[in-house]
Amino acid sequence: MDKIQDPDLPEQGLVVDEVIQHLNNPVAALKPIVKKYLGSVKSVLQERNKFYFADGNAKVEVIIISDDIIRVRLAPHGVFLDEFSYAVTGISQKVSVFALSENDDEYRISTNTVNCHISKKDFLISFSDNESHVTCADAKPMHWEENVAFGGYYVFETKQCHPKESFFGLGDKATELNLKGKRLQNWNTDAYSFAKDQDPLYRSIPFYISLNEGIAHGIFFDNTFKSHFDFGAEDPSKTSFWADGGELQYYYIHGPHMMDVVKRYHTLTGTHPMPPLWALGYHQCRWSYYPESKVRAIAKGFRDNQIPCDALYLDIDYMDGYRCFTWNRKYFPDPKKMIRELSDQGFKTVVIIDPGIRVDDNYGVFKEGKEKKYFCRRSDDYFMEGHVWPGRCQFPDFTNPEVREWWGGLFDELVQLGVAGVWNDMNEPAVFGAGTFPDDVRHQYDGHRGSHRKAHNVYGMQMVRATYEGLRKLMKNKRPFTITRAGYSGLQRYACVWTGDNVASWEHLKLGNIQCQRLSISGVPFCGTDIGGFSGEPDGELFTRWIQLGVFSPFMRAHSAGDTREREPWSFGEPYTTINRKFIELRYRLMPYFYSAFWEHNRYGFPILRPLVMHEQEVEINHYRQDEFTFGDKILVCPVMAPGIKSRKVYLPKGDWYHYWTHEKIKGGNELVVDTPLDSMPIFVKAGSVIPESPVMQFVGEKQIEELLFQVYYAPYEANSFFFEDYGETFAYEQDIYLEKKFVTTGDENSMTITQSVEGLYTPRYENYEMKVIGLPFKPSKVLVDNKQIIETNIDELERYRFKANKNFRMIQIFK
Ligand code: GLC
Repeated sequence: MDKIQDPDLPEQGLVVDEVIQHLNNPVAALKPIVKKYLGSVKSVLQERNKFYFADGNAKVEVIIISDDIIRVRLAPHGVFLDEFSYAVTGISQKVSVFALSENDDEYRISTNTVNCHISKKDFLISFSDNESHVTCADAKPMHWEENVAFGGYYVFETKQCHPKESFFGLGDKATELNLKGKRLQNWNTDAYSFAKDQDPLYRSIPFYISLNEGIAHGIFFDNTFKSHFDFGAEDPSKTSFWADGGELQYYYIHGPHMMDVVKRYHTLTGTHPMPPLWALGYHQCRWSYYPESKVRAIAKGFRDNQIPCDALYLDIDYMDGYRCFTWNRKYFPDPKKMIRELSDQGFKTVVIIDPGIRVDDNYGVFKEGKEKKYFCRRSDDYFMEGHVWPGRCQFPDFTNPEVREWWGGLFDELVQLGVAGVWNDMNEPAVFGAGTFPDDVRHQYDGHRGSHRKAHNVYGMQMVRATYEGLRKLMKNKRPFTITRAGYSGLQRYACVWTGDNVASWEHLKLGNIQCQRLSISGVPFCGTDIGGFSGEPDGELFTRWIQLGVFSPFMRAHSAGDTREREPWSFGEPYTTINRKFIELRYRLMPYFYSAFWEHNRYGFPILRPLVMHEQEVEINHYRQDEFTFGDKILVCPVMAPGIKSRKVYLPKGDWYHYWTHEKIKGGNELVVDTPLDSMPIFVKAGSVIPESPVMQFVGEKQIEELLFQVYYAPYEANSFFFEDYGETFAYEQDIYLEKKFVTTGDENSMTITQSVEGLYTPRYENYEMKVIGLPFKPSKVLVDNKQIIETNIDELERYRFKANKNFRMIQIFK
């Protein structure tokens, strides 16, 4: 619902629905609604790392979480809510060194790197670094408005916004990457065929990164109610965020680099677990592949066409009348046999599941849920009922841990049948007609009860959490694969996401690119779009360009609505089939590199996709460059996002780069024009990189790797690369059963050196590496591997200098 007035205009800010409730409520009507602001600071109290400042009535708590993270929260009438968050996993262990000081004007709490200032007179809060740069400052004191209809408060924060400040983050917003000048909100919404700038969409990630004068900081507004962000839209000098309930509670996350902010955000909300390796393969989906013969034909199509694929999806038609956890036996008479035979051909089966449970007393899941009182209820105790695919449905309250446990157990049969992954859909939650649940629906909220206003944005995340945790138990030590449409910050601990029902258009290809980059730096690294567009019809060119981008989406899945034409990689004939094959093969070649980027995320909190601004945040124009990105930090991708394009402009950050296809060496720090024939999307590799590649396979694990290939890109300076490997399907990595390898390359005019160091306990089966060195500025006469000369070397047609080295080598030297 829109604001009637700017939220920052004092004494105003009624929302339309509240006005109506206000008018309908005679008691409320007696009370005028006014916005209240903190007064001056009257007292301060310290309890270890917590500081309490009060104006005589309202209280503000400031907690030092680490050197670089400080949390601020407001209690309008002096009483804080219980400490509870679905997003943040434990904040107490990271306390560091800090001190409180005071002068006539302010209190100051300082850590080793950050200062939090609280001005005495007007209670304005600001943050600065050790070099006295003020990075984030209140434009107004924290403020609030009583919510007469539901109790609690609308809570508001207004900060200064600088003329050159840029903003990034907030999840999957379908708009420009830089959010400067935008007003957006978070309220999980089923947004079928969403348009550019449509807001809100499926997920709520109330976390943004600000970049001003080369310094980044982040704000995580951990509030699950409908929340709003205004990045200088209403007033260019102000950034505001506010919510329709809950606490005004935010984390200030210091940079100075954007990468630091993202990594620190992950220390609060967790990272994505290592996915099973097969989940990085190509996935083929459709609403719907049925009956069984169709699914088998698709599988055959992949193998006949020799196009790699690891996963086939069953959309809602596999169920009996769309009842979750059942099978339509007419279409799928023997699911176990089908899944086993697909598995023999190297395909994993992923099935959809929705939260709506059909009201039907002859249906076991409904009966049990009803008996055990697991379904959501309205304020007067009626069941929450609404129509979704199965017809009239009730909905489990996934915010109840007992319900999550039950739901998780329901996957037992699917797991026994051999299902390898579960796709969680419609969990905004979506309800036909109404959109979603009414506000008064009650939720258990893990013992911190609340209405749907509070639980709406976390409902989907708790559904996929229940799914993930259930599968994790049922699959014993195997990594589950889960995908979700809705979610809230922290969802990355449980699932990967796709951007929902997009459209087969060039505009959506562009949007999808931005959405994935944005998700990645908003803490949701494992993400992808429906390749080809869900609704509408792509032509061969659009589909192929989307496959090319999809190779570099952490999650690579083609999906389409049921009323569209066939949409497999071979559906468009030649030349598209051949090009699609080439690019899907590229996905499989680069799999060890992609997998290493997942590890860097899992272990260190790095985002997987990184927009250009993350590489050179001090270059102002990069704040607005939004269509190129790197996967990990070595491979730069320049997707082609318009029809008939023969060339495009590319910007390469400073340093040396190699054109992936031609090996041409290019100096970065400049824009250049590169050719973009349909069969060659521009990709560049940073000089100094050591990129692992595996042989092309039709599915992960098809072949035993005999020799791992490393492409080494010469640089005349020192550079680091790193490589991760493990079993790819168990949680043994949590017990250090993995290998993390670091390569350091150095080069000059006469020589190149590559060193390798290894950590971890995993032993791969292969013995040797095949090294291919690209871009040497001299003709090599001698190669030493750990001081022993290699005899057999050669140069291939792409002028790569090739030789073999033992996988445990410590140092390779190449001499002119
Ligand atoms: C929703 C999903 C879509 C799915 C369809 C049928 O629209 O977003 O991916 O195919 O429901 O289950």
